[in-house]
Amino acid sequence: MDAISIRGNRPLYGRIRVSGAKNAALPILCATLLSDGESVLGNVPNLRDIETTAALLRFLGREVTLSYPEVRVHAPTGQVRPEAPYDLVRQMRASVLVLGPLVARYGRARVSLPGGCAIGARPVDQHLMGLEALGARIQVEHGYIVAEAPRLRGAEVVFDVQTVTGTENLMMAAALAKGRTTLVNCACEPEVEELGRVLNKMGARVDGAGTTVIHIEGRDELAPFEHSVIADRIEAGTFMAAVGAAGGDVLLEHAPLEDLEPVVVKMRKAHVDVEREGAHVRVRRGEVLAAVDVTTAPHPGFPTDMQAQFMAMMATARGRSVLTETVFENRFMHVPELLRMGARIETHGNTAIVEGIPKLSGANVMATDLRASASLVIAGLVAEGETVVHRVYHLDRGYEAIEKKLAGVGADIKRIRVEAP
Ligand code: EPZ
Repeated sequence: MDAISIRGNRPLYGRIRVSGAKNAALPILCATLLSDGESVLGNVPNLRDIETTAALLRFLGREVTLSYPEVRVHAPTGQVRPEAPYDLVRQMRASVLVLGPLVARYGRARVSLPGGCAIGARPVDQHLMGLEALGARIQVEHGYIVAEAPRLRGAEVVFDVQTVTGTENLMMAAALAKGRTTLVNCACEPEVEELGRVLNKMGARVDGAGTTVIHIEGRDELAPFEHSVIADRIEAGTFMAAVGAAGGDVLLEHAPLEDLEPVVVKMRKAHVDVEREGAHVRVRRGEVLAAVDVTTAPHPGFPTDMQAQFMAMMATARGRSVLTETVFENRFMHVPELLRMGARIETHGNTAIVEGIPKLSGANVMATDLRASASLVIAGLVAEGETVVHRVYHLDRGYEAIEKKLAGVGADIKRIRVEAP
């Protein structure tokens, strides 16, 4: 079992290359199910979630070649097996993103219900409501979603909540539906906009991706594509929080500044300087870190995927900060672990009150979910003594070689082998 050992109190200096966006690559890889031929995706990060998606596409009948940062997906002629089994879907909830493409392209899909995860119940009712509106017959039996439709038809769909993968599933399904689809109350995340670009490259007509209303003219068939994935704004934001906590001056290569507005505004309020330098972004923390309040919200609000990392930074800021999590019902799993490192945090429902203290103290801590594990790494950078973060497989799902990237800017951090607890 791998763990990550960190010795804190070292400011960070140097350059870090930001990898391609996991949450853009995942839906785009699923979009390859919409066409035959060979699609090529560049700037794909080497992550466990990408491996899982490749395994799922291979199970469905696609040939997938992983030569990071390039991924090739080839559709041999003939049918696919339109099934996403439980043992793959339970590893990664985003597997539900094959549902829309499969039922649109092959008229049938049997996909395991994703189930919940550490951060919440994670229902998919909006995905199913939208597919039914497009004419799919949906049954849920024995833990599986069974969707059937000879041919989806364009429709008007209003989401009850802004759901990122729900929007993406419906965009992909509508791209092969007959006629025009209008999706209202869509998620506006940059990764949704990126999927719209790829669907247009495939021959679909998608207008408004990245806004709350998306119009899609369905096509009878779509073509394979070549595309290079946008940079990962959450990985870039995570490194901003690392510099904010540890101090220093780091150039984030290819960081997507325009997609990080809400995070950058809060960073600057905390006295973390963030400035564009050509295609890169320089992050510098000079004076003492200031406490700042944050409430998460769908894009362009402050991203829920940055809440845990920002909290770790606030743990050693001067003053009291209040963090409110409005997107998921259980996204404070990092708090008990931060408390073990001496942080002063009180939670009341979906609100956490952080009293900043000068230093944390190194400890053995347990990662519980992807962003919580990043939060513990950041805390380790400002703790006295050694911090060992266990169960780093959570981290490996969404961060490409994070310990190497942080060591490259001077952090005392390394991956170690530990006996399974
Ligand atoms: C995406 O998850 C991301 N994953 C998550 O990133 C991210 O935290 C989340 O969006 C919010 O930004 C990928 O893109 C692969 P949602 P998703 O559907 O689509 C409720 C990470 O760290 N909801 O936007 O599953 C839901 O319960 C991961 O990289 C319904 O009620 O999230 C939640 O409260 C973690 N019914 C809210 O909507 C539905 O049918 C937003 O969830 C769907 C969602």
